[in-house]
Amino acid sequence: MEYRLFLVIVLLLLTIITSTSATVKPHSNITLNSFVIATTSSSRRLSWLSSSGDFAFGFLTLPTNSSLFLLAIWYANLPNTTIIWTPNRNKPVPSNSSVILTSDGQLSLRDSAGTEIWNPGAAAASYAALFDTGNFVLVSSNGSMLWESFSVPTDTILPSQSLSPNSILLAKLNYDDFSYGRFKLSMQTDGNLVFYQIAVPTGFQYSPYWASNTNTSNSFLFFNVSGSIDLVSPTGAFMTTLTSSTTYPTSDFYHRGTLDHDGVFRHYVHPKPSAAGGASAEWVVIDFKPTDICQSLITSLGSGACGHNSYCGYDIKQMVACQCPLGYSWVDPNKTYMGCKPDFTMPSCISGVWSEGFQMVRVENLDFWGEDYDQFNPMGEAECMQQCLDDCFCAASIHDGISNCWKKKLPFSNGRIGNYVDRIAFIKVGVNKYI
Ligand SMILES: *[C@@H]1O[C@H](CO)[C@@H](O)[C@H](O)[C@H]1NC(C)=O
Ligand SMILES: *[C@@H]1O[C@H](CO)[C@@H](O)[C@H](O)[C@H]1NC(C)=O
Ligand SMILES: *[C@@H]1O[C@H](CO)[C@@H](O)[C@H](O)[C@H]1NC(C)=O
Ligand SMILES: *[C@@H]1O[C@H](CO)[C@@H](O)[C@H](O)[C@H]1NC(C)=O
Ligand SMILES: *[C@@H]1O[C@H](CO)[C@@H](O)[C@H](O)[C@H]1NC(C)=O
Ligand SMILES: *[C@@H]1O[C@H](CO)[C@@H](O)[C@H](O)[C@H]1NC(C)=O
Ligand SMILES: *[C@@H]1O[C@H](CO)[C@@H](O)[C@H](O)[C@H]1NC(C)=O
Ligand SMILES: *[C@@H]1O[C@H](CO)[C@@H](O)[C@H](O)[C@H]1NC(C)=O
Repeated sequence: MEYRLFLVIVLLLLTIITSTSATVKPHSNITLNSFVIATTSSSRRLSWLSSSGDFAFGFLTLPTNSSLFLLAIWYANLPNTTIIWTPNRNKPVPSNSSVILTSDGQLSLRDSAGTEIWNPGAAAASYAALFDTGNFVLVSSNGSMLWESFSVPTDTILPSQSLSPNSILLAKLNYDDFSYGRFKLSMQTDGNLVFYQIAVPTGFQYSPYWASNTNTSNSFLFFNVSGSIDLVSPTGAFMTTLTSSTTYPTSDFYHRGTLDHDGVFRHYVHPKPSAAGGASAEWVVIDFKPTDICQSLITSLGSGACGHNSYCGYDIKQMVACQCPLGYSWVDPNKTYMGCKPDFTMPSCISGVWSEGFQMVRVENLDFWGEDYDQFNPMGEAECMQQCLDDCFCAASIHDGISNCWKKKLPFSNGRIGNYVDRIAFIKVGVNKYI
């Protein structure tokens, strides 16, 4: 009996200790006046590691320009760099820039001239720490948390992290470009979790393309360490699941939820390097939202899920794959969000027979939604095609397979292909360019 009572008391004490110190439990402290320099020189390169070695905080060069650096947190022991946080995504810094925990306890990112580029603005910290969760924190002398990177996520959330009311994830612009992208996931204070397409570079918000339709004010998104990403009420009660997995315990797998550059929020897992085959494994998608972005994203302004003149579909791995119509090619194949351009010159409309030198390519289950400049009804397929061919303004016509015909000018928006699209597209192309 006595022994059991003792055990209960010990357990109680342990609970109290862990819960009072739950906010801050540094494993290795980063002391005042510590700094990291942005450099590619291996003799000077340095980053701050979490105690397990899972995460690193420091500088990485841009994939697109090795003379510029992001301050970042990434998985330290995976061969392919996966950045989970950066505060200067739109302001990469040159070589010899630095991040310093100053003598008065400020975290300061400075360029090579010493000009401050970023500072979280927290009051005097007595030390900093990078937790094994991937959270970088500034801690006051009494142990309270002054600031944490988890409170200002970039495009990714990790187990134990919340996306609090009135905060967002902002996608990268491209797979290799961390600057502000075209999609936003917003945890609204009204309790609704909403995906928006946004305009680059101003961030102007287009229409939403997915919403949780939850309405409990001040609820938030929570990445439960059990491996599911849930909407949780202000009191911490589970409401609904956004993405989940039960078969990949966070003890053996890294998990991350990332709003990808194509506008899809994906829940990824990767076996930890300590696990069998872990070091050579790749990130695997176990769940995602929305389930069909090609179908759900329609905007009245902007290009749609893919760039102008391109259309949205999926590759064999069910990843979003934008494509150009026949007769069109990428404006920049490395930046498909810029869309497609015709490989021929459109009719001039100055004189002549406008159909001469052009032909129409018929594609089933393809539509470019909206922005029509004319509509005919009743009209059959063949005439719908001919109407566009004979019209120097017309770049494509769309038929509904029944009796409706719409005419379109360039550029096309909201392109999508799939069995659910009950349209036939006729795309005008130069005869010499496509036969
Ligand atoms: C971290 O720093 C704080 C404040 O100086 C100290 O109380 C704590 O013991 C340190 N922790 C470690 C692991 O060094
Ligand atoms: C890389 O960045 C540097 C510094 O801003 C710039 O001078 C250089 O032109 C860039 N290089 C490329 C290939 O964009
Ligand atoms: C960076 O600093 C090192 C050491 O002070 C110096 O040798 C190097 O020239 C500097 N590089 C640049 C690009 O300023
Ligand atoms: C700890 O320090 C912070 C900031 O310096 C202050 O806001 C907070 O009230 C302090 N907490 C305690 C329990 O003293
Ligand atoms: C909130 O959502 C619930 C469940 O979907 C619904 O029954 C209720 O009418 C909604 N309340 C408001 C104010 O929209
Ligand atoms: C986290 O997951 C565990 C296990 O499924 C569950 O018991 C707990 O309630 C969850 N926490 C929240 C805040 O949803
Ligand atoms: C690393 O990235 C390259 C290029 O994307 C890819 O081919 C390779 O499979 C990746 N390796 C791992 C282990 O993820
Ligand atoms: C696309 O990227 C590859 C590899 O980075 C590069 O070799 C190529 O020049 C790029 N193409 C264009 C059009 O920029």
